[in-house]
Amino acid sequence: MAAGSFAVDGPVIGLNSKITASVVITCIVAASSGLIFGYDIGISGGVTTMVPFLKKFFPSILRKAAEAKTNIYCMYDSQALTAFTSSLYIAGLAASLVASRLTAVLGRRNTMVLGGCTFLAGAAINGGAANIAMLILGRILLGFGVGFTNQATPVYLSEVAPPKWRGAFNTGFQFFIGIGVVAANCINYGTASHSWGWRLSLGLAMAPAAIMTAGALMISDTPSSLVERGKLAQAKQSLLKARGKDADVEAELAELVKCSEVAKAANREPFLTIFERRYRPHLVMAIGIPFFQQVTGINIIAFYAPVLFQSVGFGNDSALIAAIILGLVNLGSILVSTFVVDRYGRRFLFILGGIQMFVCQVAVAGVLAATTGVSGTKHITKGYAILVLVLMCIYAAGFGWSWGPLSWLIPSEIFPMKIRTTGQSISVAVNFGTTFVLSQTFLTMLCHFKYGTFLFYAGWIASMTVFIALFLPETKGIPLDSMIAVWERHWYWGRFVKEQVRSRRGNSH
Ligand code: BGC
Repeated sequence: MAAGSFAVDGPVIGLNSKITASVVITCIVAASSGLIFGYDIGISGGVTTMVPFLKKFFPSILRKAAEAKTNIYCMYDSQALTAFTSSLYIAGLAASLVASRLTAVLGRRNTMVLGGCTFLAGAAINGGAANIAMLILGRILLGFGVGFTNQATPVYLSEVAPPKWRGAFNTGFQFFIGIGVVAANCINYGTASHSWGWRLSLGLAMAPAAIMTAGALMISDTPSSLVERGKLAQAKQSLLKARGKDADVEAELAELVKCSEVAKAANREPFLTIFERRYRPHLVMAIGIPFFQQVTGINIIAFYAPVLFQSVGFGNDSALIAAIILGLVNLGSILVSTFVVDRYGRRFLFILGGIQMFVCQVAVAGVLAATTGVSGTKHITKGYAILVLVLMCIYAAGFGWSWGPLSWLIPSEIFPMKIRTTGQSISVAVNFGTTFVLSQTFLTMLCHFKYGTFLFYAGWIASMTVFIALFLPETKGIPLDSMIAVWERHWYWGRFVKEQVRSRRGNSH
């Protein structure tokens, strides 16, 4: 795409900035914030299948599992267990909304540090938990931690990365989430056979928290955030670090100052501004994208992969191994998206991944219906269980190069500076809120709908793929402050943003 075609709101600044060693290191360190979120996702799925853990906190599940010989879909259906898993998401939801103001006032980097420290405290409480209350308190702190970091990190990455490679840099966040998931699965595998294994698994969450917090303390905040907070000299330093010592950063700095002045002059509560008609397309994406990401059914697979594999006939260990394999496939596919996202664009990956996941969900439903019987009472053979695993791997790869990384990227790159952190907050809150509802309902749904559960998600995947094809404009390579052009040219959203474009043009003449 020619640069001139999107230069409607000022010069296209920073478009040709190079990748420097410093920006690569900074972004890797920042992206490592994803570790804590991933670790939690991986750990909670595994710990909730450990017998000593269930015996101590949820003994009724073990009783039920012993009686549940008749129906493989229902044996883990427990409200208390799902409440444990999903308490984190309610806390995360609240924290992510608070984080809108925090990231604006304290900066992106400091919010990441705060998130890391809170998560660390939660991990310590969970590792030492003597009763359910401690367990839930710990989880609430973990939730605050990931609420803060998931809000601040994607914005950090999008603001620091050179526009041309923003997609690739931003996928780093999802990559570290993936590393966290795999590390947690391996740790669970090692600890599962010990009576205190669950304590170690939960307590070791302190390690990724310590790593990311130390990392965040070593990097400087983003140029945009420093300008927003009036620290111009530091902003210049940060730009020089990101773009290279010899780069001419004056124009980019001036553009940031201009955007920040526009934002300050408006002087309106960002949570109100974001509801203005001209930001309708942005808002729809900030809500729609994370919602759709969750109704791909990924967390259902991630949280409950071990449970699922156990209930479709794998033994205790092989269930965890299956989850590790899924995690590794997911990791590899995120790397694919790192290389493709700025070349072929976001839309290409969304549509490819969507089709792939749709086919897999339908196929899993088919295999389960054919092998376990409509009521779920027939035993699945090992061969078919492996087929389910293969289909889930193809599904995980589809998620890994589409909805996984792109759901963090899109909300962090489409908003103008004045409502960027607010947009990201809404997006994280929707992500957590949807995860909460789904994880509360999944096991009951599996118990009642049986294999039809997978068709439910397939239906959503089909809808979201059509949604992307119709409504998401391509954003690859476009500098953050020129993003309005993609909306202006869009067949549907154009009418919503025209008003803003006209007034900007008026100002510049
Ligand atoms: C999602 C999580 C999910 C994870 C899987 C993230 O992008 O937001 O809900 O568990 O990917 O790796």
